[in-house]
Amino acid sequence: MQQDYRAIVMTGATGALGSDIIGQLRRFVPAAELGVSVRAPERAAALKAVGIRVRRGDFTEPASLEHAFEGARRILLISTRTPGNAARFAEQKNAIDVAMRCGVEHIFYTSIVQRPGTAFDVAAGHHDTEAYLSTIGAAHTVLRNGQYIENLPMFLGPSIFTGDLALPPDGPTAWVSRLDLAEGIARLLIQEAPLPENVPLTGPQALDFAEIAGIAGRAVGRTITRRIISGDEFIARLSARGFSPPLAHSLASGFLSRAAGELAATDPALGGLLGRPLRLVVDVLPDLLARIASSAGGRARAAP
Ligand SMILES: NC(=O)c1ccc[n+]([C@@H]2O[C@H](COP(=O)([O-])OP(=O)(O)OC[C@H]3O[C@@H](n4cnc5c(N)ncnc54)[C@H](OP(=O)(O)O)[C@@H]3O)[C@@H](O)[C@H]2O)c1
Repeated sequence: MQQDYRAIVMTGATGALGSDIIGQLRRFVPAAELGVSVRAPERAAALKAVGIRVRRGDFTEPASLEHAFEGARRILLISTRTPGNAARFAEQKNAIDVAMRCGVEHIFYTSIVQRPGTAFDVAAGHHDTEAYLSTIGAAHTVLRNGQYIENLPMFLGPSIFTGDLALPPDGPTAWVSRLDLAEGIARLLIQEAPLPENVPLTGPQALDFAEIAGIAGRAVGRTITRRIISGDEFIARLSARGFSPPLAHSLASGFLSRAAGELAATDPALGGLLGRPLRLVVDVLPDLLARIASSAGGRARAAP
């Protein structure tokens, strides 16, 4: 029987980064050459409507991935967020094994900037996946993704209303716009071989939270003062905001990583892929905060 060929199949297309990547891929590749492997196909109805192949694929169910990865020339595996490094590695290993069985030419994997020995507590799942990729004998590219600027509002939390930004000690971080990252990954996915075995995809400028407080304060028109708290207090504050314990601990370990300087390096690779200057925090953050302020204002007006 004829295989249903797709130039690129990607996982995580209903997630934040994955949605941005599939949006960018659509600029460069006809929809009929793209496929997505998603846990909930009904959430990818808009992709199906434009002609992208949508199939259900769950990293915990290899049989579903066999169907979702069918005929793929290249596969992009978006790392999952499953708590526990061993569980996450097991899922990602499943996906790599299925990609190999499907005969894909090249596997791309979204990893992290930090290297083994980092304080970041989800790192081992990434590093084990990278190590496994290096043993399978297939062409692969490890995408060393920087930290998204789009996640800064989560860290700023209520400080944009109170002026009090209480966070653990940090260090400069080369924050990257998720849209730029997505465009860079899409451009790599369509680039002909030879492709790099790993590529650092960071933002162009490393800023710490004192500098981010300044940018956020100017954006919302109030002074935001950066204050140091312990990791334990940070975790308690995140729990009070409804964050799960694994996520709260992971975010706290991210601060240890920043404070150790593990996220400070900037790299020209992403700018080179895009052929234009990358977006800066000051270009992206004000709009994100304006949206939050306007939805909070709307809620306040709607309140009885
Ligand atoms: N660089 C950064 O700043 C940063 C920040 C946060 C996370 N990350 C890492 O980068 C990844 C992508 O980030 P993101 O913001 O796009 O995260 P996200 O929105 O949570 O997307 C993660 C994607 O993984 C999919 N997924 C989870 N478990 C799966 C499974 N068992 N089988 C198949 N798919 C599964 C999810 O599917 P559903 O859509 O069905 O939920 C989702 O689409 C994250 O998963 C995490 O590893 C990076």
